[in-house]
Amino acid sequence: MSSAALEVIARKAPGFRADIGLVLGSGMGEFADQVLEQIAFPYADLPGFEQSGVSGHAGRLVVGRLGKVRVAVLQGRIHYYERGDAAAMKVPIETLQGLGCRTLILTNAAGSLMPEVGPGGLMMLSDHINCVQASPLFGIATNKRFVDMAGAYDAGLRRQLKAQADRLGIDLHEGVYAWLAGPQFETPAEIRALRVLGIDAVGMSTVPDVILARYFSMKVLAVSAITNMGAGMSDEQLSHEHTIAQMSVAAEKLTRLLIAFLDSQS
Ligand code: HPA
Repeated sequence: MSSAALEVIARKAPGFRADIGLVLGSGMGEFADQVLEQIAFPYADLPGFEQSGVSGHAGRLVVGRLGKVRVAVLQGRIHYYERGDAAAMKVPIETLQGLGCRTLILTNAAGSLMPEVGPGGLMMLSDHINCVQASPLFGIATNKRFVDMAGAYDAGLRRQLKAQADRLGIDLHEGVYAWLAGPQFETPAEIRALRVLGIDAVGMSTVPDVILARYFSMKVLAVSAITNMGAGMSDEQLSHEHTIAQMSVAAEKLTRLLIAFLDSQS
């Protein structure tokens, strides 16, 4: 249960309620600097919140306002590959729900399987394939565990985000994301196989968080920032440093897009 974390938050931000939660992936952490009237909580102060050991993930919950929308931002996430626990984000996401969030926006860094979309591109998720076949719902004993994943990526929110992208002249692609466990990157053979399966982008996060968000009845909007082509599709040497270095172009666009989207919500 996340009530202990909610108590800590209530002590420093009494009565705070949020409309929208955000989970910021690799390279998007600076987005949290935009939050107005912000109050920040290091994960170390929040029971059940685990600090990611991955560079580029600050490990803070930032609450406040963006435009007229009250937001609760998870600046950094722990990944399945850090401990092999698909439910590592259960308490943080339940806490966002407990703060009132009915919508969760997630960002991640991903490799592109779309030949026409390279580093710096943005892809909104329309669906996913859980290649890991692990679930954050393992061990839950009630029928609530049987979550319907059709329509997980909310069609209305996707339309609104696309409209904002068009207005700003930002290319926003849409496609299917595959979750692979990592932390190693894929082999070229895996990427070729995923292309046959109809995958458009590949990454090591987000899917467990989306399952949790749906479990907690939140609407989901998710965007991949493309940092590289899938293994074997270009001459790039893949590494975490390469991912972080390539994030800056996409992160700048994604920050502008999300701010415009949040502004349009008020
Ligand atoms: N594969 C998996 N995860 C990633 C990639 C990739 O190519 N790029 C950024 N995150």
